[in-house]
Amino acid sequence: MPLNKPISSFAGQRVWIIGASSGIGAACAEAFIEEGAQIAISARRTELLNDIKSKYPNSSIEVQACDVSDPASIQTCYDTLIQRWGEIDLVLFVSGIYTPLRAEQFTLVKAKPIMDVNVMGPMATVATVLPKMLERGHGGIGIVSSVAGYSGLPKALAYGPSKAAMINFCETLFYDLQPKNINVYMINPGFVETPATAKNDFYMPGLISSAHAAQEILQGIKRGEFDIHFPKGFTRFLKFLRILPYPLYFYLVRKFVKI
Ligand SMILES: NC(=O)c1ccc[n+]([C@@H]2O[C@H](COP(=O)([O-])OP(=O)(O)OC[C@H]3O[C@@H](n4cnc5c(N)ncnc54)[C@H](OP(=O)(O)O)[C@@H]3O)[C@@H](O)[C@H]2O)c1
Repeated sequence: MPLNKPISSFAGQRVWIIGASSGIGAACAEAFIEEGAQIAISARRTELLNDIKSKYPNSSIEVQACDVSDPASIQTCYDTLIQRWGEIDLVLFVSGIYTPLRAEQFTLVKAKPIMDVNVMGPMATVATVLPKMLERGHGGIGIVSSVAGYSGLPKALAYGPSKAAMINFCETLFYDLQPKNINVYMINPGFVETPATAKNDFYMPGLISSAHAAQEILQGIKRGEFDIHFPKGFTRFLKFLRILPYPLYFYLVRKFVKI
């Protein structure tokens, strides 16, 4: 029994994808276009967004420059979209910064931009879109978090906590929004091949392509899932690890990650 209302078709649905200039967000943009959605794509690098738009000359695609670390920038995009579309059916927040960080390198200067984009970005977006969705009693909000938020993992001193915050944010939003007919999608990918993971110098178990990740997200939303996680072999193993007692959890993670 899905926790959200299933969606039979995205044809004509107005979908705003934030963080669509590369990786998972760009792949989601293409997947939603191919499903017939009317999409708006946002990020800072508009040249990359325009590359996506030019691949689909027969689709109506809005390109909106947006810096999610600046709430005013989110508001400006939103206002423009509402003027053009009237309403937004689904907001998919994909933007994120991934910087490996260990205790020896930990400083606030390094942590703050990660928190600004990964935590304050989705919160500012939700604060912007919610009033109208609540007024209409209709809409959907998807936030791409990460399995790195399930429990503490090595080298993720700011990224991990930012994603843990978004898992909790989605869970908490769900209580209030489900009775109001607003769908909430908590999206936790494992390793996905993107420019962000290209810098990883370690073996990434269960690595999938960004096109595969986009299909998991799109199909999960269609099925009405709240907890969209993939690839299942890897994410189920991590879900199991987090119920273990800490001595065993730390021992196993150290053993697998070899730190
Ligand atoms: N790849 C993985 O293995 C993996 C696993 C779990 C979760 N995730 C999550 O998936 C999401 C996408 O990651 P990715 O791997 O696809 O990385 P990516 O290719 O580096 O894409 C990151 C996206 O975030 C946008 N972004 C960054 N800072 C921004 C800002 N200040 N304002 C607006 N947009 C901003 C980028 O756009 P601009 O630079 O053009 O602004 C880009 O579109 C992230 O939230 C990441 O944490 C990824």
